[in-house]
Amino acid sequence: MSNYHIKNFEEYYLIYRKSLRDPESFWEEVAEEHFLWHKRWDKVLEWDFKKPDVKWFVNAKLNVTQNAIDRHLQTKAQRTAIIFEPNDPSEPVRYYSYRDLYHEVNKMANVLKHQGIKKGDRVCIYLPMIPELTFSVLACARIGAIHSVVFAGFSSKALATRIQDSECKMVITADGGYRGEKTIDLKGIVDVALETCPSVETVLVAKRTGETIKMQKDRDKWLKPLTEAALGECPAEIMDAEDPLFILYTSGSTGKPKGMVHTQAGYMVYTAYTFKNVFQYRDNQVFWCTADIGWITGHSYIVYGPLLNAATTLMFEGVPNYPDFGRFWQIIEKHKVNQFYTAPTAIRTLAKENLDYVLNYDLSSLKILGTVGEPINEEAWHWYNNNVGKKKSPIVDTWWQTETGGVMISPIPFATPTKPTYATLPLPGIQIALMDEHGNEIRENQVDGRLCVKFPWPSMARTIWGDHERFRETYFSTYENKYFTGDGAQRDEVGYYRITGRVDDIIIVSGHNLGTAPIEDAINEHQAVAESAIVGFPHDIKGNALYGFIILKEFGETRVHDNLRKEVNQLIAEHIGPIAKLDKIQFVPGLPKTRSGKIMRRILRKIAAKDTSDLGDTTTLLNPEIVQAIIDGAL
Ligand code: WT7
Repeated sequence: MSNYHIKNFEEYYLIYRKSLRDPESFWEEVAEEHFLWHKRWDKVLEWDFKKPDVKWFVNAKLNVTQNAIDRHLQTKAQRTAIIFEPNDPSEPVRYYSYRDLYHEVNKMANVLKHQGIKKGDRVCIYLPMIPELTFSVLACARIGAIHSVVFAGFSSKALATRIQDSECKMVITADGGYRGEKTIDLKGIVDVALETCPSVETVLVAKRTGETIKMQKDRDKWLKPLTEAALGECPAEIMDAEDPLFILYTSGSTGKPKGMVHTQAGYMVYTAYTFKNVFQYRDNQVFWCTADIGWITGHSYIVYGPLLNAATTLMFEGVPNYPDFGRFWQIIEKHKVNQFYTAPTAIRTLAKENLDYVLNYDLSSLKILGTVGEPINEEAWHWYNNNVGKKKSPIVDTWWQTETGGVMISPIPFATPTKPTYATLPLPGIQIALMDEHGNEIRENQVDGRLCVKFPWPSMARTIWGDHERFRETYFSTYENKYFTGDGAQRDEVGYYRITGRVDDIIIVSGHNLGTAPIEDAINEHQAVAESAIVGFPHDIKGNALYGFIILKEFGETRVHDNLRKEVNQLIAEHIGPIAKLDKIQFVPGLPKTRSGKIMRRILRKIAAKDTSDLGDTTTLLNPEIVQAIIDGAL
């Protein structure tokens, strides 16, 4: 039996128990058997959840790209590493072998070096889903620069905040990006962002759409001539196990996004391990994760996890409904995809369309289906299982977070029996705790609680860039000696977990993690707005949609309200991005507040969900009369 590859349920139990009994030797064996190290660790783990301070593979030396690329060259150089499926299905597919990937990444690494990027420098990557995105990420890792990928759907303001926060020296972008029928002027967005980003010295521009763009002298450089002139070999920088590998921003419950810092060795070991087991990946299979590399799902399961296992990973530039709603199924047939990993919101969108879109394609290559990002409802689970998996492909409902780096709770296909809407059991090495309202751990089954992790795992984020205190406060201060996820969960009679959703001020809309505070900040910038509160409400396709309650400085005529609604959404799009736009906006005379001035969101959530039969205790409100007024005007 190998620790690295779990093949049945009995093995899962044995390995899980071993990982509890002796986590250090468990991870040590995994690390020893499957990776290339320049120097071995002195100690597997040092940890203290109070500070918090966590170190894995202490003092080990390595380079992640040597593990993800170089070591495959001996026997697998010709294997396809990346299949690039363009937005436009008539444009030729591009295939990159591991040998090609090696050269592309090394050339790009040399370009970064020539442009003055050194170990520890931050490089912001703002690219569409084109191969240059993967090359840029790995080129940074090659030379020890810290990548900070920003999803190319974020606005110039959101991009600027992220560049400023980590003081990036370089931005890698493209002239534009394709998304279905739209083209997005990425370089224009970067130009606006950089008006307020003095740390950026160089902008590298990949050519994709061929639109005319402005190039600022000395600062902006086309990528292609530089990579063409660069050498195809670049020595790998030897990194310490705990050096940062990347920063990835995620929403927080205050205005500023949190730059989660992931480190080299632990992230490498854990993403490789979970990729292998959660997707039961075998040599020469084709794996497709539909996420964008701008999110953690793409980092871990389009780039690092697959490449560390010498897998073939498919990168799709487009959207599920272009040229029509059959696109995902067409791609699966075309490339004989074996593992398909997507989000509930995509499943629900496609399930609404004519079933012929699915039935028109041969999906017999599929072996495993995955879902991630938000709770999957029972109906969507069955639709996916019946129509896509034809009841023969197990569904892995994978629960995890930007902060956790890799999948934490998930079935192991063909081992763990699945159960609709349940993420089932923790993976080896993951010790879950459910907490009650008094802060005590609940030991029994068939309970509801707050989801925590009580022992470190290799790919956990180590800090928030530039704000360790916020890291401690957000994740380690709610419950003593535990990492608090911000999620609620149920445990059933056999110990399976079902994630019920966020219990904090974060709302997941179409799988995107959005904080209410930054949206409210954006709205409050409108000169007519006095105050606002955002809550989520159930939505058929998006899972949750956003409902804004807004107090205007002057209530005014209803005629102007429609314009105001547009302006408010415009502001949100500028500050955050179109994904954070509100579905409903209600102008209200006041907001329900406690005596200490806190908005009672619980009440607003019920009103938004049209579920006002039982509003609970409203006697502690400063202004109980406001509740009825809001209900009367509800949309
Ligand atoms: C939040 C993290 C990690 C991948 C993408 C999201 C929710 C994630 C599930 C799932 C129910 C899920 C949680 C979590 N979530 N996966 N399988 N079932 N909820 O990463 O943007 O950091 O969001 O997504 O609420 O806390 P993220």
